Amino acid sequence: MPMKHSTYSVIIVGSGIAGLYAAIKLAQTAKVPDGILLLTKSTLSECNSRYAQGGIVGVLDENKQDSISLHIADTIKAGCGLSDFNVVKFISENSQHAIKDLMACGVNFDRNEHNQLNFTLEGAHSVRRILHVGGDATGYGIEKALVEKIKNDKSIAPNITIYEQTLAVELLVDANDNCRGLISFNSATKEYEALYAPVTVLATGGTGQVYKYTTNPSVTTGDGLALGIKAHADIKDMEFIQFHPTALSLENSDSRFLISESVRGEGAKLINQNGEYFMQNHPQKDLAPRDVVAREIYSQLSKGNKVFLDASFIGIDKFKRRFPNIYKTCLENNIDITKDYIPVAPAAHYCMGGLKTEVNGKTSINNLYAIGETACTSLHGANRLASNSLLECVVCAYELVNTLSKQNLHSSKIIDETVLNTIKKYADSENESSEDFDIKALKDKVKNIMWNNVGIIRTESSLLTALSEINKIDEIFVSKDKCASLDEYELRNMLLVAKCIINAALSRKESIGAHYRADFQTTNTPLGEHACTVEKSEDKADDSKIIA
Ligand code: FAD
Ligand code: SIN
Repeated sequence: MPMKHSTYSVIIVGSGIAGLYAAIKLAQTAKVPDGILLLTKSTLSECNSRYAQGGIVGVLDENKQDSISLHIADTIKAGCGLSDFNVVKFISENSQHAIKDLMACGVNFDRNEHNQLNFTLEGAHSVRRILHVGGDATGYGIEKALVEKIKNDKSIAPNITIYEQTLAVELLVDANDNCRGLISFNSATKEYEALYAPVTVLATGGTGQVYKYTTNPSVTTGDGLALGIKAHADIKDMEFIQFHPTALSLENSDSRFLISESVRGEGAKLINQNGEYFMQNHPQKDLAPRDVVAREIYSQLSKGNKVFLDASFIGIDKFKRRFPNIYKTCLENNIDITKDYIPVAPAAHYCMGGLKTEVNGKTSINNLYAIGETACTSLHGANRLASNSLLECVVCAYELVNTLSKQNLHSSKIIDETVLNTIKKYADSENESSEDFDIKALKDKVKNIMWNNVGIIRTESSLLTALSEINKIDEIFVSKDKCASLDEYELRNMLLVAKCIINAALSRKESIGAHYRADFQTTNTPLGEHACTVEKSEDKADDSKIIA
């Protein structure tokens, strides 16, 4: 076959905080005789993680206000009782270790003049417990430290091969549900490669780009989830998409720069153009859970009102010091927070669902793991508590490495006929061309359909409309297996993910957390009972059972 074939001990897909941290810990602690491959579809540092602002939860002994039980209670309450208690407890209990280890990796969390860690507040947290870096550049600070370590730490770097501009396009899963590696596609050279390993880890982030308005960067097209769907992995909770209440909303622009919830944590208040501070009647006011605030803003916007953040309560000097990037970005867009309110609107932000995993990332497919936003450990339930995501990335990556440290990670190239047939498809020299399609226009269509019909408020009718419209695109595009470009693969993945969200939203006939059905406004699930939507295809020949 003309294509390249390579073997590794572990393949990690994605270079966000979950993927980078897993690679570092694996190289530090596990025996990886054939090395680690870290592949990422853009540059090493491009990912959701890089843009994280508010911070990362740390339940630390030195924070006398806080305790594990308080954090567990806040997480479960924000998640409307659908979180898994044991998972929440595990992640909370391990947060102290996670934070200390990030510091050991070179992350410098912000401190006060007495050199004590600064804790901030976000929605639905009962105490200040969120650590941040560079004020509002937490993700950038962590990602930068991890990238530097991977590139420059001599005890780690030689064990890690990095492929940039390379995307995973299909998992190599044999007839007995064992993952043997994957097929990668270099979007610059257009070359495919068959990559084999005893362990494959998906750390490909979330699904924000499936929606027209999102805080997520362009790489976030739900790829890992789509690979899992194609491989018939169990998927869970996909109806729960978190819409962040406060993204910068500028006229004539679809882009949505985040205005961190910690801006409200430090005192900013939501206001409409009539001067009404409309969150003041809620018991938690502007710091109510995200789903509640997002729906309230949606309701204001639906009435034709404009919504702003009034940051004057923070004080200009503190704002500049605490939120330097937000201040700068607002100014670049002619919003001077010393005299202007910040115009905001909700945007798709986070996917609570994903590939169903245990806390160590184990999926329903042998040798396949998923960590970070791609996974659904059931930490978040129906609505994620702010700043729990970065924590989950780190704790679960650490637990994955603990599991893998006990395994034999000698590479092996075990190929059955099923795997061979997958490889052959990509070994054919001809790429399938889709010159007839305007891929960008089709992507935009998907994003509009999802925003208009599967957004903050859903009904059966809007969901069925979305399904039918998505199916029409799918019929034109014929959900290709082998595509000709990065954009085509992303469109293929977006279509799979969109259907998965719609189907999950159709099956949950109640309103709970981030899933609000105008036609089923009550909550049926008893508090604490995890009636999750797990989808699995029994008949592997019939994709329609899981995705249509
Ligand atoms: P990501 O960081 O998204 O990384 C995914 C990686 O996978 C990327 O490198 C991507 O290029 C790569 N990839 C994707 N598909 C493929 C493919 N097919 N092949 C190869 N590579 C692929 N959470 C918090 O806890 N605190 C916060 O303050 C916070 N603020 C946020 C602010 C913003 C603007 C956004 C967008 C999110 C924020 N979140 C926050 C959420 C949090 O940042 C993410 O959930 C988390 O960073 C996800 O990390 P990850 O490693 O799972 O994925
Ligand atoms: C924010 O800073 O508002 C985002 C925090 C998060 O998504 O956890």
